[in-house]
Amino acid sequence: MSALNINGKDHSVDADPAMPLLWVLRDILGLTGTKYGCGIGECGACTVHVAGKAVRACKVTLAEASGHDVTTIEGIADSHPIVHAFAQLNVPACGFCTPGQIMQAVAFVKQKPDPEDDDIVQAMQGNICRCGAYVRIVAAIRQAVGADR
Ligand code: FES
Ligand code: FES
Repeated sequence: MSALNINGKDHSVDADPAMPLLWVLRDILGLTGTKYGCGIGECGACTVHVAGKAVRACKVTLAEASGHDVTTIEGIADSHPIVHAFAQLNVPACGFCTPGQIMQAVAFVKQKPDPEDDDIVQAMQGNICRCGAYVRIVAAIRQAVGADR
């Protein structure tokens, strides 16, 4: 049994410790807001927070996540400024990448609350959007940090 705290709730998970956290979240715990894109750490669709850091859940094992606080998109309030700005600026097209984009952005603005556009682009460049919503993603993050300039 592995102990996980996810979105403030304790869970005991009976699974192979080498199982990717993404599998645990989606297939065992039913937290399907976190998306499976590439499975090799290259697209960012599966981004969650482990111990407050944005990580790719397809590249983190259950054993590595055990004992740490995990936050998924289900743990981010609708009232969070990033979520609010994504909705206000109609960022999602198909929406598949959006949970990962939001998780990456939430961790980023926590660490850098007053970013320049270049900082935002750099922080988000590992999160692929097949619909090409990149301009709106940057605009939403800029709006969320109150730096609409
Ligand atoms: S599914 Fe994890 S980075 Fe693409
Ligand atoms: S909104 Fe479709 S992949 Fe980003």
